[in-house]
Parts: sequence; C-alpha cells; structure tokens
Amino acid sequence: MPGALQSAHRWQGRPGPERREKAAAGAGVTRLMRLNSLFLKDLGFCLQPGSEPLPSARGRFGAPLPILTAVTSPNLAISYWDYIRTEELLALQGGIPRDERQLGNDEVLFITVHQVFELWFKLVLRELRTARDLFHSERVAEQELSGAVRSLKRACSVLRVANQHWEVMETLTTREFLAFRDKLFPASGFQSAQLRQIEILFGLPMEERIPLGLEGGYLAALKSPGAGSSPALAHVEAQLADMPTLKTAIEEWLFRTPIDGSDPRAADDERRVRAFLEAYLEAHAREVDATAVHTASIARTPEDGARIRERYEAEKRSVRAFFAPASEEGGFRTARLRAAMLFIETYRELPLLAWPREVLDALVELEQFLVIFRQRHARMVERVIGRRTGTGGSAGVDYLDATALKYRIFRDLWAIRTLQIRRAAAPALARPEFYDFRNS
Ligand code: HEM
Repeated sequence: MPGALQSAHRWQGRPGPERREKAAAGAGVTRLMRLNSLFLKDLGFCLQPGSEPLPSARGRFGAPLPILTAVTSPNLAISYWDYIRTEELLALQGGIPRDERQLGNDEVLFITVHQVFELWFKLVLRELRTARDLFHSERVAEQELSGAVRSLKRACSVLRVANQHWEVMETLTTREFLAFRDKLFPASGFQSAQLRQIEILFGLPMEERIPLGLEGGYLAALKSPGAGSSPALAHVEAQLADMPTLKTAIEEWLFRTPIDGSDPRAADDERRVRAFLEAYLEAHAREVDATAVHTASIARTPEDGARIRERYEAEKRSVRAFFAPASEEGGFRTARLRAAMLFIETYRELPLLAWPREVLDALVELEQFLVIFRQRHARMVERVIGRRTGTGGSAGVDYLDATALKYRIFRDLWAIRTLQIRRAAAPALARPEFYDFRNS
C-alpha cells in the first residue's frame, strides 16, 4: 500500500544528510584515532599531556584528537594515566585547603561522593541531549529510534547505579558530618548546576519549581557569594537558552503519530482521532463497569457498595475529561498527544509501534529513577542531619521530599497507565496494516 508506505515514512522519516554526515564523521573519527594511534605508535609517538598535537592528529572537524603528540623515545606508548588523567582526578579531593592531607576521611568521602555524582550527571546530560536532538527533527527515522532508546536506557543505568551511592554517604554519622558541616555554609547541593541542567533539559518549567523560601529563587542561589555571576549560573543560563527541552522534542515527534492511520495534516484528522477516542472510551467504560460489579460484590455493607461504584464512576469521568482538555491546556493538540500515547501503548504489538513504545517506556523509567534519586537523597539527608535547615537555607528534608513528590515531567505518560485496558478489550483498528513493516 504505497499511501501507507509514504505516510509511515513521513511520520518516522528518513535520516537527513546532516545526520548521516554526523554518523559517518563519528565512525570516521574513531577509525582515524585508531589509525593514528597505530601509525604514531610505530613511529615512536605517544600520549603526552601539554604538548602540541600533531597536525595529522586532528579529527575531521579540525579538533585535536586526544593528546596524541610527538615525543622522542621510541618505546613510549599510550598510557592509562595519561588517557584517564588519574593524577589530575585524584588531586581534586582536597576541599577548601586544596590539600587532602589536611582533611579527615569523612570529609574526603563527602567530597568524593559528590564528585562521583557530578560525573554521572554529566553522562546523563550527554545522553539526554542526544535523545533530544534526535526527536527535535522534522523526521525521525525508525532505525534511529533504537539509538534514542539506547541513550535513554544508558541514562537509566547511570542513575540506577548512582542511586546506590547514597548508601556510601549514609556511612557518615551525624556527628562525623557536624565536625566539618559549618565550613560549608552557604554552599549547598542546591548549587549543582548539572542537576538544574538535567531538570531544565528534561522539561521542568520554572513556574513549577518549589519556592526555596529565599529571595531571588533558583538562579540567584547559583551566584557566587558577593558576585553577580558564577560558572554554575553560566551553565544553567546556557541550558535555558539551549531549547527545546526533551519533553517538547518528544511531543513534536509524538504529535505526528498516525492514529489508526490518520495523519495530523489530514483535513479530517480531528474527526478520526475523536472517533478512535470515543471507541476506546466506550471499551474502557465496559471494562471499568465489569470490574466495578466484581469489586462491589465484596462490599460488606450497601454503603460500601455505593462508595465503590461511585469511585469507578469517577474514574470513568476523569478518563473522559483527560481526553477533552480545555483550550488553556492545549485543546485538541493535547488531546491528540494523549491519544498518540494511548494508541502506541495499546497497539504496541504492531511492528511500526514497537520502537515508539520502547521510547515511551524508557522515558517513564528515566523519570522513575529521577524520582528515586530525590527520595533516596531525602532519606539519606534525614538520616544524617535529621530535619534541620539546609546549608543552602531551605527547609531541608521537607523541601527535598516536596521535590520528589511534585517534580514530574511526563505526567501524561504516567496517566496513561491508569486508563489502559486489556489488549483483547481494546477496539479493533480500521487500518492495522498501516503499521506493518511490509508496507514500510
Ligand atoms: C551528608 C550528605 C548530604 C547532606 C546532609 C545533604 C543535604 C542537603 C540539603 C539539606 C539540601 C536542600 C538544600 C539546602 O538547603 O541546602 C540538599 C540539596 C541538594 N543536594 Fe544534598 N546533601 C548531602 C549529600 C549530597 C550528595 C552526595 C549529593 C550528590 C550530588 C547531593 C546533591 C544535592 C542536590 C543536587 C541538591 C539540590 C536538590 C534540589 O534542589 O532539588 N547532596 N542537600
């Protein structure tokens, strides 16, 4: 079916020349590095920090390849410490005196755990940017969706591991922490530019942030004491300018989802999407009614039975309202986005929906890890300092718990979980063949 074939490709798209160029360049740089390293090694070149890179040791875009430089000894080769920069890395735990020998183990632990988290944040940011760039494109090729899922899944793995690090921090007792805590005022994790960047890139809007209870809010908290600016503030401002957010990019892509074969550019798209939703809502209501009868049968009193039935009625009303957002909420555009999420989740077995469904699932998983990060941090803080005011001046644990509860970006993706029904109960599609690989 050529029509379906073309539409499906318009939806998922083909890699543009620019993206093919980037992929080829990435592979090229890797190959060039390998070749350079073999070639230069043979000629007696090695890694040496601080020397000028050889003209030949430049990537395709003119950037110097990592520290490949000429030295005189023929026996020297690339070393672990030069590549990983272990000397520099291990010299970074000296705290305010810049000298680790002046610090106790507890403080070095405190600094190191923060640094490890910052490194993990860095990797998460890179993967989020890659995924965002991919979705922020006129066309997203099917074969690229697996790459986006890999990025999101890698960010999940990083956060899963990072979340276990709280356990290391919890080895610090209250008294051990109090021994050096006063030195830290008014510094605070609040000033972690990278966590703010992750939140911004993920899609947390400024107006949804929980008030700090301090003048000036988040951006002011990032300024160096007595100064107007700071590297942290500059990073966060750069992130604010680097739009769109991952959420917006995902929505741009999701909006193009053909729903039961209907393309958003078709003149009758709204009518067809609403018809699909109506059929789904009816199927949903049948499922809810059946469950309500079953649950009401276990009620011990007529009052309980009435309460249970009312709960199910309210569930049906809220599902209808979810697909009829007011114009302030985005009207039909929002309804279509929600319908697309529902459609992908419900008919995920259809070949062309398999990867989109993995994307949606990876986003939920990633958000779950961010929530767990906040909750674990809050519990660790409660264990170490109780409920006292934070060094940054916030309400401490109360503030942290509120962020864990309220900061949700992909709310609609979570909401879809509430209203999904059994596959067998879902309405039959008018054009299931539209989503078949045979037509792509
Ligand atoms: C003994 C260890 C720790 C204690 C007692 C602690 C305490 C706190 C408190 C009370 C806050 C609220 C802001 C304030 O008023 O200061 C906070 C925020 C924060 N902390 Fe920690 N923290 C600890 C370790 C860590 C570690 C290891 C990280 C790793 C990066 C971290 C990252 C953050 C971040 C990113 C925030 C800002 C959270 C937000 O605004 O949503 N903290 N911390």
